[in-house]
Amino acid sequence: MSKLFTPFEAGALLLGHRVVMAPLTRLRSEPGNKAGALIREYYTQRTSQGGLIISEATPVAREGYGYAGAPGIYEDAQIEGWRAVTDAVHGGGGTIVMQLWHVGRQSHTDLQPGGKAPIAPSAIQAEGDAYTPDGPRPFSMPRALDIHEIPAVIDQFRQGAARAKAAGFDGVEIHGANGYLPDQFLQDGTNHRTDAYGGPIENRARFLLEITQAAIEVWGKERAGVRISPSGTYGSMSDSAPQETFGYVAKKLNALGIAYLHVVEPRIMGTELISESGPVAAKHLRQHFLGAIIAAGGFNGKSAEALLETGDADAVAFGRYFISNPDLPERLRRNLPLTPYDRTTFYGGGAHGYTDYPRAKTSD
Ligand code: FNR
Repeated sequence: MSKLFTPFEAGALLLGHRVVMAPLTRLRSEPGNKAGALIREYYTQRTSQGGLIISEATPVAREGYGYAGAPGIYEDAQIEGWRAVTDAVHGGGGTIVMQLWHVGRQSHTDLQPGGKAPIAPSAIQAEGDAYTPDGPRPFSMPRALDIHEIPAVIDQFRQGAARAKAAGFDGVEIHGANGYLPDQFLQDGTNHRTDAYGGPIENRARFLLEITQAAIEVWGKERAGVRISPSGTYGSMSDSAPQETFGYVAKKLNALGIAYLHVVEPRIMGTELISESGPVAAKHLRQHFLGAIIAAGGFNGKSAEALLETGDADAVAFGRYFISNPDLPERLRRNLPLTPYDRTTFYGGGAHGYTDYPRAKTSD
């Protein structure tokens, strides 16, 4: 029998199968950066009995935006729209956690309140583009956070976690991956600080661990997860010793007893280069993290099954195939063909390429 379709537990999250919907930014919010009926429809379509959905990355602060059109969780007025989403997912027998997001330096002054510089651990600019209301613009030069400002940023994560609770989510995932703010603190290519948040890994990990602790204070450890991408280079990321850096992070998160560790595997897309000291995959982190591990990145049904068989991960998250196959768990279970995805409709727009991908016919 296929391991993908056996139950598993991630902390207090009791799941009926191991095909997880990965967090996917789709930029279809309503005015006020609220989740509206279209977003509700999209998540409803992707709900399965016993399945886990991780929401698209959701900014906890206006300063946390790098993508115009992402639905936020930085204001109470944004709770109601998300509540409709969680009600729909629960109505279909699914579980949904919110991914909490702050892009840090991966932003543009046009997206920042008052047109100010984006924040970062250090004033080092990333290569690439932010999604402004007027289209893609190169990331702006960030300013280094003063140490006295850091508690307020941590509090934004705490508030976001509390609003996610008010919106009926089942937990939260800290977005510690893909070169966003917590990742910028973790890796030494982007963190040149000389205070308690920079230098040795014990200091560079402090920010991620403190926001995780804030999420735990709101949710309890069994409903807080963390996503990391130890081998990702997206957002001009680099670290001189990724095995040590992320091994340390996994150890500390294990000690905190979080619900799950979500690892982007080192093998997808042109932006995922394997670092010189070797890839850091779920396999490596398994030695340090004893709770549930979700792996993501370039999987199909067969490779997901093979990974679960090795025991290096407990579940597999699918991104792009979930975009184009709303009933992905069912298709994998029945071994049905998958609909290809259309990249041109990934970010922004309306229903096309969002809620108009078909389900498999029962006769397929
Ligand atoms: C992503 N990914 C992503 N990751 C994340 O942590 N938060 C996010 O909001 C997003 N948004 C996002 C949007 C789109 C359009 C894509 C294609 C990807 C990364 C995603 O969760 C996943 O790790 C990758 O897509 C790799 O998995 P697949 O697509 O190969 O299954």
